[in-house]
Amino acid sequence: KVIRRDAYRAPEWMVPEIALDFDLDPAETRVHATLTVERNGDHDAPLRLDGDGLSPVSVRVDGVEAQGWHMDGQTLVVPLSGKAHSVETEVRIAPERNTQLEGLYASGGMLCTQCEAEGFRRITFFPDRPDVLSKYKVKLTAEKARFPILLSNGDPVGSGDLDGGRHWAEWHDPFPKPSYLFALVAGDLVANKATFTTMSGRDVELGIWVRAPDLPKTDHALHALKLSMAWDEKVYGREYDLDVFNIVAVGDFNFGAMENKGLNIFNSRYILADPDTATDWDYDAIAAVVAHEYFHNWSGNRVTCRDWFQLSLKEGFTVFRDQSFSADQGSPAVKRIEDVRGLRASQFQEDAGPLAHPVRPDEYMEISNFYTATIYNKGAELIRMMSTILGPENFRKATDLYFRRFDGTAATCEDFVLCMEEASGIDLSQFRRWYSQAGTPRVKARLEHAQNGGRAVLSLSQSVPPTPGQPSKEPMVLPLKVKLFGEKTGKPLTSERLVLLSDPSEEIVFEDIAERPVLSINRGFSAPVIVESDRDAADLAFLSAHDDDPFARYEAMQQLMLDTIVGAVRSGKGDHGAVIEAVRNTLADDRLDSAFTAEAVLLPSESFVGDQLAVVDPDAIFRAREALRRDLGRELEHEWRLAYEAARANRFELSPAAKGARRLKSVALSYIAASGAPDAASLAFLQFEKADNMTDRQGALTTLAGGTSDKRVAALDIFYQRYSDNPLVLDKWFQTQALSARDDTPETVEDLARHRDFTLGNPNRVRSLIGAFSVNQRAFHHASGRGYRFLADQLIALDKINPQTAAKLIPPLGRWRRFDSLRAEKMRAELQRIVDTPGLSKDMFEQASKSLD
Ligand code: ARG
Ligand code: ZN
Repeated sequence: KVIRRDAYRAPEWMVPEIALDFDLDPAETRVHATLTVERNGDHDAPLRLDGDGLSPVSVRVDGVEAQGWHMDGQTLVVPLSGKAHSVETEVRIAPERNTQLEGLYASGGMLCTQCEAEGFRRITFFPDRPDVLSKYKVKLTAEKARFPILLSNGDPVGSGDLDGGRHWAEWHDPFPKPSYLFALVAGDLVANKATFTTMSGRDVELGIWVRAPDLPKTDHALHALKLSMAWDEKVYGREYDLDVFNIVAVGDFNFGAMENKGLNIFNSRYILADPDTATDWDYDAIAAVVAHEYFHNWSGNRVTCRDWFQLSLKEGFTVFRDQSFSADQGSPAVKRIEDVRGLRASQFQEDAGPLAHPVRPDEYMEISNFYTATIYNKGAELIRMMSTILGPENFRKATDLYFRRFDGTAATCEDFVLCMEEASGIDLSQFRRWYSQAGTPRVKARLEHAQNGGRAVLSLSQSVPPTPGQPSKEPMVLPLKVKLFGEKTGKPLTSERLVLLSDPSEEIVFEDIAERPVLSINRGFSAPVIVESDRDAADLAFLSAHDDDPFARYEAMQQLMLDTIVGAVRSGKGDHGAVIEAVRNTLADDRLDSAFTAEAVLLPSESFVGDQLAVVDPDAIFRAREALRRDLGRELEHEWRLAYEAARANRFELSPAAKGARRLKSVALSYIAASGAPDAASLAFLQFEKADNMTDRQGALTTLAGGTSDKRVAALDIFYQRYSDNPLVLDKWFQTQALSARDDTPETVEDLARHRDFTLGNPNRVRSLIGAFSVNQRAFHHASGRGYRFLADQLIALDKINPQTAAKLIPPLGRWRRFDSLRAEKMRAELQRIVDTPGLSKDMFEQASKSLD
């Protein structure tokens, strides 16, 4: 069954208030709900309450046993005669048998919830849609010894002991909210607490709740929370609104984290950190996710979504907000590079495949499948483009207007754009196509300059490729930041210009251009598009050394590397000279910070190379890329060793400079290994053994695990023994092997799936082995097809346990059109086998069947 955006209708009944009474027990929890319902508009429809796997023990209306209620499938239908009633239901649920991790479930001895998007209906009967906003009163009762801490949304209003070793707590949330923001947690937890004083002088009690042994790993998350609260006040004028803000870390979680009002629930990997177990990447990800969920308090909770087609209203905007926050904490250039790398790896691929959909989709079967890179990351790019077009002052005026006008309501993407227009006076009618048209726009750019001192003409044209259900496209508005540099002098010839390309093709004229200009375009990645230009290797090398926009410098180097590898794949032989010289210059430039240098000298991934080719040849790409890596390693061995030694002198701290040094150190080590230097493995093993932090240890392990030295097995064993009781670090052990470039990775991964520490019950473990393997291009696309068979076997098994997590792992198989016919046939056969599996979930059916078409 397909849900369509244009079928939206306002709710027939509102529920201004709900009181929930939970008698918590892992085996059987009793849920009593009292809903105050009000007829919305002039109609005589009965009350329809969503349920999922629920059957009512009792239904009462206005205090007496209800008459004439019935089930319509999973929906409870209650006939009501008046305009307002009180409706009570009672159900029993079994959290410990909930392996889907949606609704109320058990994890590591505690009970917790996940309701977005439609998990609340697995807890109690309710109009489970985001435009029904209610004030919640929640009473929790549980065995005190096992569940001493009882948390829910809002503020605590009372608690007490009961007979039989039980106790209770009551929470009231004064802010009306949709059901997807409901949460409760019961467990034996301890908190890292602090107080934050808001800009208007209110004290908020902060708590990060974990199991006692994890308490020492919560300082970084708590610090990030305080920074986020201060940042949202300063940058968006947004203040926190309750007296408490709690975060709980759980070990079994379907994705990153959840912004439940006043009670965020997190995947523990985005909370727990200490230098021995978390990498610098983990530290940054924790800060980014803590910020993201905190920022949702305004962009998501105070202003929520009218329906799930508007999901990017809160997710795109909130990702943009967390990206801006992270940029402000460290290096904006490196943050932008990382975000663009991620966008290209996941969103561009999605946009080019069978699951492509607009940022505001028109239809879905299962909304869980739409928590995608398009909704989140392309959505964030849309907000970024509007902020670029409006400029900082108008953008802030527009967000102020948006928050003021829609506070306490469920809004649409259109509402957001209207605020942008109203506050700035800028017409965004054509820009709106970014919300409705899927596919990554392509821009062709050609710069002509006839004579020194004359004009330069930049010819731009755009096109958007067809995507499923959208055979032809209209031109978009593309904000392209452009600048020209003089090839001879290395100096800028113009200031930066913001070109708004809105026609299919346009010419931009630059007067009085003294010397041959080199084009710098889409600076800062101002538009999420693919630019094809006629810049040759010399131009790109020039920009990689002279462009004054760090992103554009990185981009020029990437393009040079990409052209080189793609050329080698096509011709069978590589000319590596230009890349080697450009990398040499970058390494020699001591004005650059190490984190930037590390990003700039990294080769594009195998899969990004594949995206440039009509038919992906995973083995040829691997060979071409490895050959370039080896030559870079050999030709610049001296430079890599210098960089390695310089970075090694740094002592451990978490400053941006020290993190950058560690990043460059790992990259240098990998190039030394690629050179084939005889001491590379012992250098790596020494780093592995002597490391006083996980970044260095995992960096060394990655180098060893990808190689053939006899130190490899030893290092993997030592790592395993040392961390066998730490699930988050064991995930790294699985992941490192699944991403390995070794020939035997497919067998290794099959063996690891039988390892005693592997389980389909934990989503992090699944992603670290199966998810990682499926993006290891050469290993997954092994010509035998064993990688495809392995993935399909695992997903069919996982679908019975956790369909949401299983369905997320379908896309690698959906790329079959991009491969040779032998591989494509094998991939299709596995998708078909999945689709034909009896009892397949709706989640998997939608993803797999769309991938086959
Ligand atoms: N709103 C959460 C966040 O972005 C994620 C919820 C994901 N839900 C899902 N069904 N995949 O922070
Ligand atoms: Zn979010």
